[in-house]
Amino acid sequence: MNNLEIFEESKKYMPGGVNSPVRSFKDMNMNPPVIESGKGVRIKDEEGKEYIDFVLAWGPLLLGHCDEDVVNAIQKTSEKALAFGAPTKLELDLSRFMCTNLDNIDMIRLVNSGTEATMSAVKLARGYTGRSKIVKFAGCYHGHFDGFLIEAGSGVLTEGIPGSLGVPQESVENTLIGIYNDKNQIRQLFEKYGSEIAGVIIEPVAGNMGVIKAEDSFMEELRQLCNQYGSLLIFDEVMTGFRVAFKGAQTLFNVKPDLVTYAKIMGGGLPCGAYGGKKEIMENLSPTGGVYQAGTMSGNPIVVAAGLATLNKLNNNLEYYNHIENIGSKLENGLLKISKEYNLSLVVNRVGGMLTIFFTDLKEVKTYEDVKTCNVEMFKRYFKHMLKEGFNVAPSQFEAMFLSVKHTEEHIDNFLSAFKKFACKENGMC
Ligand SMILES: Cc1ncc(COP(=O)(O)O)c(C=O)c1O
Repeated sequence: MNNLEIFEESKKYMPGGVNSPVRSFKDMNMNPPVIESGKGVRIKDEEGKEYIDFVLAWGPLLLGHCDEDVVNAIQKTSEKALAFGAPTKLELDLSRFMCTNLDNIDMIRLVNSGTEATMSAVKLARGYTGRSKIVKFAGCYHGHFDGFLIEAGSGVLTEGIPGSLGVPQESVENTLIGIYNDKNQIRQLFEKYGSEIAGVIIEPVAGNMGVIKAEDSFMEELRQLCNQYGSLLIFDEVMTGFRVAFKGAQTLFNVKPDLVTYAKIMGGGLPCGAYGGKKEIMENLSPTGGVYQAGTMSGNPIVVAAGLATLNKLNNNLEYYNHIENIGSKLENGLLKISKEYNLSLVVNRVGGMLTIFFTDLKEVKTYEDVKTCNVEMFKRYFKHMLKEGFNVAPSQFEAMFLSVKHTEEHIDNFLSAFKKFACKENGMC
């Protein structure tokens, strides 16, 4: 069966032919390739066409596809441990690793996805403070938990829908919407509701409205307001954890979170998640405390083994982050140079190995409002062109592209050559 045949057949059995909406390429008005295998930075579809991958499973594969140490760990563990639903030494190893190697994490709870991590962290914040309201920022995405499906980024933003059907009004009436990088607005929100706010959840480097780094003074204001009103500050590092730096986006700011959520890279490509923070807060989780959160598969041995192999490899090779910074900056500078040469209006935002090309006439993109000025039709043309040239990038203007330790300068050069052809076509010169 070719790609199209598989995808059409899939639509009979899975809504839209997929298990997560953006995979369908619906907003790109085309059918997606059906991926058969991946190794390093290359993925191959069912028709044998290869792509250099800048999606990396939407972030997790910092070591590239099927890294041999990760695959070995999975194979070795699977011979003796699939699942127990009981304590394991592997869970201790991963939890201790994260608590000792990351900042501001005394204790951690392992879960199965980023959504589970963020929704559980919010529940814990509510249980700990005895308050109901949470603040999330427009354009940030924290998973598909009802309370977050309002003004969300990622697929919700790509599909241009205000939220989701099936979310009762009661589920979002305790969600307050903050404006990213707007100190005055958040201060006003606290002045009005401060004593009712359990916590503020934020992507410290947003990736789900395209890449936008929070401003230092904005983060400081958040910390100060949370201190003043007794609310918890939750960093959602599902995307940025172990990516923008080994210790995550936390290290980019002079601000300490109370709770942090992780997923993606920490599971080495398998379904994972975690949330952690101060002992005093974490001990409110059942069985030591009254906030109930559980999971049959939480701390699954195979996932934990893949995660440990990944994190150990990163920790033993911190120079990987220099490599990613170098190729990231080469990509950024190359894109800017080409856009100048061909008079193409765009802004490139990058933090480490996360980058977004915003097709906009603005000079900089710092807010959700800025993001909305993007020329989505131009993005679609760019996307289709790059895919045809053999480069897999996220099928949305409002996502990040990701770099791995396996990308080389040559991959970046090739990407830039393909981008140059696009710029030339757009400009009418080719
Ligand atoms: C910042 C952030 N938080 C939470 C999530 C949800 O994670 P998952 O898709 O594993 O449920 C995502 C997913 O992309 C994310 O980027």
